[in-house]
Amino acid sequence: MKTKDWFTDWFNTSYYHILYKNRNDADAQLFMKNITNFLALPKSTHILDLPCGKGRHAVFLNSLGYTVTGGDLAENSIKHAKKFENESLNFKVHDMRKPFNNKYDSIFNLFTSFGYFDDDKEDLLILENIKNGLKKDGYFVFDFLNAEKVKLNLVKEETKIVDDITFNIKREITNGFIIKHISFFADSKQHAYTERVKYLDIDKMSFYLEKVGFTITNIFGNYSLEDYNSKTSDRLILVAK
Ligand SMILES: C[S@@+](CC[C@H](N)C(=O)[O-])C[C@H]1O[C@@H](n2cnc3c(N)ncnc32)[C@H](O)[C@@H]1O
Repeated sequence: MKTKDWFTDWFNTSYYHILYKNRNDADAQLFMKNITNFLALPKSTHILDLPCGKGRHAVFLNSLGYTVTGGDLAENSIKHAKKFENESLNFKVHDMRKPFNNKYDSIFNLFTSFGYFDDDKEDLLILENIKNGLKKDGYFVFDFLNAEKVKLNLVKEETKIVDDITFNIKREITNGFIIKHISFFADSKQHAYTERVKYLDIDKMSFYLEKVGFTITNIFGNYSLEDYNSKTSDRLILVAK
């Protein structure tokens, strides 16, 4: 019997949000300001934030004046995000392996929200859906980890204490995946989850994008939009049309 995909379980737990609660919202907002300015996106732009998680980028983009739709597989995150809905901000549960009903001016895939699937075909299917979901000349912003830097600086073991939970984290790169084993004791029991993200470097990402018909227009290495450097950049940010 096939077990449920790891990303369906883990991202839907409260523990995932506790572990990552200190993720930097200031950085996320700086990135959204910088990228919308750089692309000179008019306020009439309808942006799809996919997957949006609890909506931290979507809510901020909407506060800048954009119409925003957020989609995510995690029902609990969408339930939370829906509290912020208004006339120009909507959230829905959506599996990015499925095509969209609408066309958008821009689609953003942010904060390593890709590379979860074993088969390259599923990665390509998601990119095809994104391509088909964009209006003519629409931008795709693709923000992924910099796999080469992760490999060079792999922290094999780490302990993080957040909200009185001690998370034990072990990392490895095996069979083309960056794997994070997360174990902790909470609510009277022991838990274990595994995050698996495909080792996708700039060559593979470029190959993927070109294969589905995108043209890469820009490559950045961080949220300040500095040039990408494979050894030192924190992020691999691709902009494509
Ligand atoms: C690393 S989080 C980032 C979320 C958000 N972009 C942010 O920065 O907070 C990855 C998200 O991908 C979502 N996800 C995983 N697989 C998905 C799928 N097949 N379709 C839609 N969302 C998915 C998870 O539920 C999770 O919210």
